[in-house]
Order: sequence, then C-alpha cells, then structure tokens
Amino acid sequence: MPTKTIISVVIVIVLVTAIAISLSLLIPDKTAEPVEEETMQKIEIGGRIKLPEPRYAGNISVEEALSKRRSIRAYSGDNLTIEEVSQLLWAAQGITSPWGGRTAPSAGALYPLELYLVAGDVEGIDKGAYRYRPEEHELEKVKDGDIRAELAEAALGPNQEHVKDAAIDIVFTAVYERTTVKYKERGIRYARMEAGHAAQNVYLQAVSLDLGTVVIGAFSEDKVKEIVNAEEQENPLYIMPVGRKG
Ligand SMILES: Cc1cc2nc3c(=O)[nH]c(=O)nc-3n(C[C@H](O)[C@H](O)[C@H](O)COP(=O)(O)O)c2cc1C
Repeated sequence: MPTKTIISVVIVIVLVTAIAISLSLLIPDKTAEPVEEETMQKIEIGGRIKLPEPRYAGNISVEEALSKRRSIRAYSGDNLTIEEVSQLLWAAQGITSPWGGRTAPSAGALYPLELYLVAGDVEGIDKGAYRYRPEEHELEKVKDGDIRAELAEAALGPNQEHVKDAAIDIVFTAVYERTTVKYKERGIRYARMEAGHAAQNVYLQAVSLDLGTVVIGAFSEDKVKEIVNAEEQENPLYIMPVGRKG
C-alpha cells in the first residue's frame, strides 16, 4: 500500500476515534446512577437567591384586572415558576424609583412592611421560608422545608386548607416602629393600611398572570411569627396563598 494511503487511513482512524470520544462525553451514560429527581440546588439558611428581573408590561389592562379580581381558594397543585414568584413579590413591594420608592404607597416613605415567601412548589426555589429583600430583589432563606401545612394550622377557622394547597404563601408583616417614630400611634394604622395596598397589588398581578390568590386575615399572629422565623418587632398582618387555579 502506498505511504500516502496509509497516512490517510491513519488520519481517518484518529479523527473517527476523536469524534467518538467527544460524543461519548456529550451523551449521558444511561447505565450510570439515575439522576436525582430533585436536582434543585439547596440553599443554606442565610443564603440568597437573585430573583429574575420583573417585567414592566403585561397583556391586560388595569380595568380588566380589576373587573376579574376574585378571591380564589382552589388550586391545581402545579408548580409556579421563579419568574411568577419574582413578579408577585415585585408587585407587592418592588422598588420602582431611584430613591427607593416602591409599587405600593407608604406613609412618609418609611416602608414598615416585610414579606416572606413560603415556597412549596416553585421551579428553581427549594421548599422553605425566605425574606424578600426589595432593594436587591433577592430572597434570603430563613427556614428550611415545607411549612405550608404548619402555616395552614396557624390559620383560624375550619376552611383554611388553601394555605396548605397553594404553591406558595406570601406572609406580610409590619414593623410598626418604623412608622410610629414619625406618626406616633397613627403609624400603626398606616402600616396596616399599607399591607392592604400591597396585598391588592398581589391580587391584580395574580389576575394578570392567570393565578389565583386570596387574603387571609384569620390566624394566630404568634404562631405565624414563629413559623416564618420573623423578628421580635414584626407583626403578621396577612397571608396570601397563591397557586394555579384549580
Ligand atoms: C381583612 C380581610 C380578611 C380576610 N380573611 C380571610 C380569611 O381568613 N380566609 C379567607 O378564605 N378569606 C378571607 N378574606 C377574603 C374575603 O372572604 C373575600 O374578599 C370576600 O369573600 C369577597 O370576595 P372577593 O375577594 O372574591 O371579592 C379576607 C378579606 C379581607 C379584606
């Protein structure tokens, strides 16, 4: 066989071998250990999750959202996406101005509200409780595990199962001192009003995302506070379960 032919055959063999090795690296080995169902990265207590940028335009008008807003207590059990969670938290308390102004009004711009995400079924967020940090649009983990059932038990009345059935719950608390320092006793009233503004934003955002939600006011404040690991000076005001409509 001429030398040229031998060299060509060797080059072809080397190339075919190289391509085969590259492909074997790319194609997953089916005989390997089964991939864990739960591939979600687990966040430690104190760890942060950067939320995706919210969108600032939607498909439905304010008028349509207002006319469609209803309290929804039956959910499908399907996951929410991290984008939907980001959008809901931004609607409640997101930063919308260079000086720190937010989506909801606040007496004296003192911002007494704190929000907790109780994550159950969310793609990209492991189960647990997280404090929403509006300035960074981030979540900070404060508790591990699925606490929706515990939260539902803290709710009063026989029919508060929706707290457990929802993909997430948003817990609203207020630090009255942030507002009473300027407005004295009136500041308590102001902070409670502000929870109403923020909750209505979540209702309207949920309509726009075709999700269901309801405000829950009937619960033991002490129990809710303990369940989400809230600080001593925080006062729980609302729980909002959110899920895909069932
Ligand atoms: C301050 C307040 C507290 C509420 N608490 C609860 C509650 O604990 N559980 C619940 O299922 N719904 C609760 N709701 C929702 C009301 O039941 C609901 O808004 C009412 O039935 C009117 O229905 P709509 O929201 O669909 O218009 C509460 C609403 C408000 C404003």
